[in-house]
Amino acid sequence: MRRTYLVTGGAGFIGSHLVEALLGQGHQVVAFDNLSTGRLRNLDHLGHDPGLRFVQGSVLDELAVDELMHACDSVIHLAAAVGVKLIVDEPLRSFTTNIRGSEIVIESAFRHRRPILLASTSEIYGKNSDVPLRETDDRILGPTTTARWAYSTAKAVDEILAYAYHRERGLPTTVVRLFNTVGPRQSPAYGMVVPRLARQAVAGAPLTVYGDGTQSRCFCHVSDVVDALLGLLDNPDAVGGVFNVGSTEEVTIYALAERIVQRAGSSSPIRLVPYDHAYPFGFEDMKRRLPSIDRIRNLTGWHPTRTLDDILAETIAEAAAERAASVAGTI
Ligand SMILES: NC(=O)c1ccc[n+]([C@@H]2O[C@H](COP(=O)([O-])OP(=O)(O)OC[C@H]3O[C@@H](n4cnc5c(N)ncnc54)[C@H](O)[C@@H]3O)[C@@H](O)[C@H]2O)c1
Repeated sequence: MRRTYLVTGGAGFIGSHLVEALLGQGHQVVAFDNLSTGRLRNLDHLGHDPGLRFVQGSVLDELAVDELMHACDSVIHLAAAVGVKLIVDEPLRSFTTNIRGSEIVIESAFRHRRPILLASTSEIYGKNSDVPLRETDDRILGPTTTARWAYSTAKAVDEILAYAYHRERGLPTTVVRLFNTVGPRQSPAYGMVVPRLARQAVAGAPLTVYGDGTQSRCFCHVSDVVDALLGLLDNPDAVGGVFNVGSTEEVTIYALAERIVQRAGSSSPIRLVPYDHAYPFGFEDMKRRLPSIDRIRNLTGWHPTRTLDDILAETIAEAAAERAASVAGTI
């Protein structure tokens, strides 16, 4: 059935891929974004699609959110201040957007009785390094003065609100905890490690690895993440649930840097940078972060299909194309 979806953060990295997939399924989409980290150019290639409407504005604007909510059948809330660097550099704006913005979107979804799919994060688990992390696992956090735990707490408040609206008011809410997601159109500007290292490699600059590089992560391709979202969207069995979405292919950040250098055919050295040089205002990292994806797999059959090598090939190609264009003076 053809539906109209409101995608907050629709000009962002994940948002633009989701918008594209929804349009591809014949739906109508309203992409709502204040273009703080998102870019209109992420949607350029979809500009001809009559099913797409882009609205520039903030989720902090209650009237605008309400008007758009009214015109849509369902909402996917992705708008947020994202990226380790951004949340460390601008903790106040990040916290306000991530708590107040989500509250406004959830309240509006309730007023209009619209199902909502809410993007949360693996940061919810804080420094719990259990392997694998299950949705029911504990949150282990450090001091409130560390920006990372403020981001984790803001997203936890969003989850709690969504769940409370579901339980007490019957609003159909579904929460996805996204683990590291990568792929085309991800900006390196806000602390995302794969696009940053890929750009350093193609520029012949040293690859800067924070800490000792033995911390490990799992990187999931954005098209797999979008497939996971589509499987949960408007799925009655997902309502009231929380789902991890991520890859289970684990790599240390040092090994990741080595692989990027090798695959880019680069001769860049790898340089270790102490955390307190990279993030002077307080930073803590966690050793491992590997999701259990049993819950979503059991419900929808979803599992990631793209390998880390697929992801690196694409990210390096994008970085190289960008560099060639900038050297030629076309961007
Ligand atoms: N990329 C990841 O690895 C990852 C991991 C975990 C969770 N997430 C979550 O996924 C969602 C999308 O993240 P992304 O990686 O695409 O990042 P992104 O920065 O590309 O997307 C966020 C979008 O929200 C927009 N935005 C920010 N503040 C806004 C506001 N006040 N009003 C309207 N729009 C606003 C930005 O302009 C941007 O387009 C976020 O909720 C994020 O917390 C992402």
